[in-house]
Amino acid sequence: MFKFVILLSVVACAFGAAIPEGLLPQLDGRIVGGVATTIGSFPWQISLQRNGYHSCGGSVFRANIIVTAAHCLQNVSPSALQVRAGSTYWNSGGVVLKVANFRNHEGYNGATKANDIAVIRLSGSLAMSSNIKAIGLASSAPGNGAAASVSGWGALYSGSTSTPTQLQYVSVKIVSRATCASGTYSYGNQISSTMICAAAPGKDSCQGDSGGPLVSGGVLVGVVSWGYGCADSRYPGVYADVAVLRNWVNNAANSV
Ligand code: ARG
Repeated sequence: MFKFVILLSVVACAFGAAIPEGLLPQLDGRIVGGVATTIGSFPWQISLQRNGYHSCGGSVFRANIIVTAAHCLQNVSPSALQVRAGSTYWNSGGVVLKVANFRNHEGYNGATKANDIAVIRLSGSLAMSSNIKAIGLASSAPGNGAAASVSGWGALYSGSTSTPTQLQYVSVKIVSRATCASGTYSYGNQISSTMICAAAPGKDSCQGDSGGPLVSGGVLVGVVSWGYGCADSRYPGVYADVAVLRNWVNNAANSV
């Protein structure tokens, strides 16, 4: 079943702007350089689940509001979704709440991945604790080279039929939009105004981490969105730029 979910997410990613042959997001990509961690270090992290299986990450924004990626919420109804919060493990512990509704950014474009952000309203409110905490939204993007971390339950090993059950994280550095679109890397004009990048040698987010948090300076600066392969030095991880999308998130959280 998880394989199916991963395949769907790879297909979703693969529908992104014209991907060179051989550079399709890799099913066998791993969170290279990842380290197992515990939820107390990333208490805003949640597992967004379809039919009971981990499909994407997300972040606690309010007790009943989750921020995730719009590409995680295509062709699905709220009734098929649940959120596990407050657990190091996607498949046990913490608390599971049903999804009451979600709202994708109206400007989300599946082909270009512009505006790849969404909010979810939970069926109840999360009780905040040392393992469940809301995270604030960045009001300005960190500069090029700023330290950041990204976490998630994305696939670890080639051919894996299940996610790692334990939460992983990697430390990366912000790559500004201008630098990410420059000749230093190979994306060119595919990096649009609602995107920001992050990279580090041998480290990256990967399939199954989508929707999850890129955090710098204690605030949410990015939402895992797309990339060519994982940890390819020519292709940084690409994230929805939260500072740019902040007003939309605040409004959507009130209306979802
Ligand atoms: N689109 C992928 C997903 O749905 C996330 C890809 C992130 N890739 C990267 N190189 N950082 O899980």
